[in-house]
Amino acid sequence: MAADPLQAILDEITAEARDATERGKVADYIPELACIDPGQFAIAVARPGQPTLTAGDAGVPFSIQSVSKLFMLALALGRLGDRLWSRVGREPSGQAFDSMLLLELEKGRPRNPFINAGAIVTTDAVLEGATPREALGALLRFIRAAAGDEAIHINDRVAASETATGHRNVALAHYLRSHGNLRNPPEMTLGTYFHQCAVEMSCAQLADAGRFLVGGAGAPRLVSKARTRRINALMMTCGHYDGSGDYAFRVGLPGKSGVGGGILSVVPGVASVAVWSPGLNHYGNSRLGTEAMERLAARTGWSVF
Ligand code: DON
Repeated sequence: MAADPLQAILDEITAEARDATERGKVADYIPELACIDPGQFAIAVARPGQPTLTAGDAGVPFSIQSVSKLFMLALALGRLGDRLWSRVGREPSGQAFDSMLLLELEKGRPRNPFINAGAIVTTDAVLEGATPREALGALLRFIRAAAGDEAIHINDRVAASETATGHRNVALAHYLRSHGNLRNPPEMTLGTYFHQCAVEMSCAQLADAGRFLVGGAGAPRLVSKARTRRINALMMTCGHYDGSGDYAFRVGLPGKSGVGGGILSVVPGVASVAVWSPGLNHYGNSRLGTEAMERLAARTGWSVF
């Protein structure tokens, strides 16, 4: 059987990433992430109904951090439907992921579910009818079903590390609570949020988990088609925070990043792509991961535009 030409593209992109000298800076505000080797790089492409292709360190688990926000959003929409939007908006913020600036101006309603304030509200909404253990159990079940892999788990050390140092998130949660936009005690919602961010996956697992956003034959049907479109729209407009415009311009695909250096991108109807490189750019998104996605989009012609 002839080798898949896509494999050659992934190998080429991985070789280029290995040679890169400017790799960005690993997140150090979560101490447990500060010691991750920035020399690592992985890419994986999952096309529904076909074997997942990988290159680089695609079997190494990493902290998915904010990529978890899209899975929790899918869960929250499944439970609350459009009621969620009375508590969180759908507009890009143009501010850093942990910014408090607009929250004061806009009276405690975060701009979107992907900035930290909006994700904390989304998690709080899932906690309306569930204990933290139940909410995290539901999140893991969703991710495991999406990836088709029961081994995916939460790294408790990473969660504990952020619990000890996540002062900005504590401030955001209390500020939300002062506006009545947090229904549970801040410590409870934050504990759940820190654990959701500490989900660990390999690049191959993450690409597989993203297939539910791709649609088409062979993709897991975990959310409706209409909702899939909306989650993709939010990933495109808000998934990279104040770097969302730059990502849309360079890559042209919906994507969600995390400070662990992972990015999940969706080629609607075609593929789910995960990249991982721990060094970040000044927006807090993977530097080489973004470059790799830019190269992949250019070499395959994949784009929603
Ligand atoms: O709340 C935080 O700061 C982290 N747990 C997640 C932030 C994050 O991943 C931002 N993404 N690039």
